[in-house]
Amino acid sequence: MHRVEAGPLRRFTSQIFAAAGTPADIADTVAEFLVRANLCGVDSHGVIRIPEYIEEIDAGHVKPSERPRIAKQTATTGMIDGRWGFGQPSGVMAMELAVKKARKHGVGTVLAVRTNHIGRVADYTELAVRHNMIGIAMTNCGPAVAPWQGMDKLLGTNPMSFGIPAGKEDPIIADFATSASSEGKIRVMRTKGMALPPGWVLDRDGGPSTDPAVLYEGGVLQTFGIRGYMLNLVVETLGGALTGEGVSDEFKGVNGIFMQAINVKHFTSLRSFTASIDKMVKKMRSSRPAKGFTEVLVPGDPERRTMRERELNGIEINDAIWDSIMQVAKRFGVKPQTTGA
Ligand SMILES: NC(=O)c1ccc[n+]([C@@H]2O[C@H](COP(=O)([O-])OP(=O)(O)OC[C@H]3O[C@@H](n4cnc5c(N)ncnc54)[C@H](O)[C@@H]3O)[C@@H](O)[C@H]2O)c1
Repeated sequence: MHRVEAGPLRRFTSQIFAAAGTPADIADTVAEFLVRANLCGVDSHGVIRIPEYIEEIDAGHVKPSERPRIAKQTATTGMIDGRWGFGQPSGVMAMELAVKKARKHGVGTVLAVRTNHIGRVADYTELAVRHNMIGIAMTNCGPAVAPWQGMDKLLGTNPMSFGIPAGKEDPIIADFATSASSEGKIRVMRTKGMALPPGWVLDRDGGPSTDPAVLYEGGVLQTFGIRGYMLNLVVETLGGALTGEGVSDEFKGVNGIFMQAINVKHFTSLRSFTASIDKMVKKMRSSRPAKGFTEVLVPGDPERRTMRERELNGIEINDAIWDSIMQVAKRFGVKPQTTGA
């Protein structure tokens, strides 16, 4: 097991991408987002992705020096062309543009096409929350998930995130795949030799399994029950049909992006809104815990806690993941700065 501080890990990650032909500012953004995912405890979307992103550059799928552009816009809507560069700059541009439009007109809705993987979707709703706006972000993904009661790969893991600003309390940050699990989490569990909870995957014959390996041997992810199935179809619609990139197994992209910012001030006073959210957060936290639990949290709490702990004590990266990153780093002659076993 390796324990790495966030700062050196960020620099190390950025240097790898820069050595692979990425302009320094884009390499910094991608590194910042990957390491932030680790800090939040979402290791499936952290530096484990370095080898995959480099493979995508090698294959010509990620064009590291391309920058996103605004393809078209109105007062309240926008369309970003990611030009097949890294996904994170497209995601940032989309939500920043949505916030800008919402500041003036109350709501901004911005989609992005031809983008690569944008990572942890909450990063973008948190961006809206920093401007005291409600952020909504969704992205469809390549087919890996079966429809409810089906066994064919017809849907993406299709995550959605909602960010809600509070006043004195912490914001509510909901961020989840509409599949029973993200693929990345299963990848991490396979690396750690862990069994999956029931209901996450079907094997190649459509039978239930708790073995993460079946997913990579012709198996398929399941939706998060019937409710996950319905929400998944919504993400297909907004990220695939509305962007024009295609739905279900006709979607040949990586992430079709839908982002929206809602400016609270255009509907009610920010003060009364945040007071309501504060009250709601407090009420949830003051609920009597059910049997087997010691506390009640709000979405965003687990990530904030893990971030505080990891900023203090560093990020643990298991040997298999670290070795795969080091292989890529060696290829580019990049050395990590500070690591501890
Ligand atoms: N870009 C992509 O293509 C893509 C695809 C799929 C998933 N993802 C990302 O994968 C990540 C993991 O998704 P997931 O479905 O495994 O998430 P998950 O099932 O672990 O759910 C996480 C959410 O649940 C909240 N939560 C957890 N425990 C809680 C508790 N006790 N009380 C209240 N709230 C609690 C968290 O704050 C967070 O909002 C997300 O960041 C998602 O955006 C990205």
